[in-house]
Amino acid sequence: MNAEELLDVCPVVPVVVLRDAADAVPLARALVAGGLPAIEVTLRTPAALEAVERIAAEVPDAVVGAGTVVAPGQAEAAAGAGARFLVSPGCTDALREAMTATGLPFLAGVSSASEAMALLEHGITAMKFFPAKAAGGPDYLRSLAGPLPQVRFCPTGGITPDTAADYLALANVGCVGGTWLTPDDAVRSGDWARVEALARKAAALR
Ligand code: 3PG
Repeated sequence: MNAEELLDVCPVVPVVVLRDAADAVPLARALVAGGLPAIEVTLRTPAALEAVERIAAEVPDAVVGAGTVVAPGQAEAAAGAGARFLVSPGCTDALREAMTATGLPFLAGVSSASEAMALLEHGITAMKFFPAKAAGGPDYLRSLAGPLPQVRFCPTGGITPDTAADYLALANVGCVGGTWLTPDDAVRSGDWARVEALARKAAALR
């Protein structure tokens, strides 16, 4: 799978914050059952790498990746844990080099034409658009499609079930990401049926 193919795995990539690695497997199973196999586990908690490891080992139908990769060393750590893709909110030269070195597909974050052009200079055409809502939303992305038609995005940040379809309707959007599929209270209480139902609704968006 390359980064372009990653954008086509499913219309919505759940962005997950896991405090307890024991929640990882049931949560991933619920998302897969709901029709969303690509799961971004954010490296924002101490449990994140173990969560990636458990999903990679125990949920073969999931395509688990690591998100919030902000330091070069995290790219290698995530790859070692079994991540199949990497996502970062922004990009530096060092981070891009570290993510490239893993051999994994990655979505580096951009929020301007210049940032997208910097990645294009390295042959990178699939990117994260972050923070999607605050940076200008669907109107901004539509504007980028004119001068940069070769770039496709996964917008993330401030997207809701009500606004996701506006992004997905754009020619330069492959999928969107969001945390709304795994509400904190549902994860804390182990309400996997609710997570599955939210995933099913999102999977039907396209
Ligand atoms: C991200 O890292 O992509 C954002 O934190 C997504 O969060 P949100 O869907 O809650 O805006």
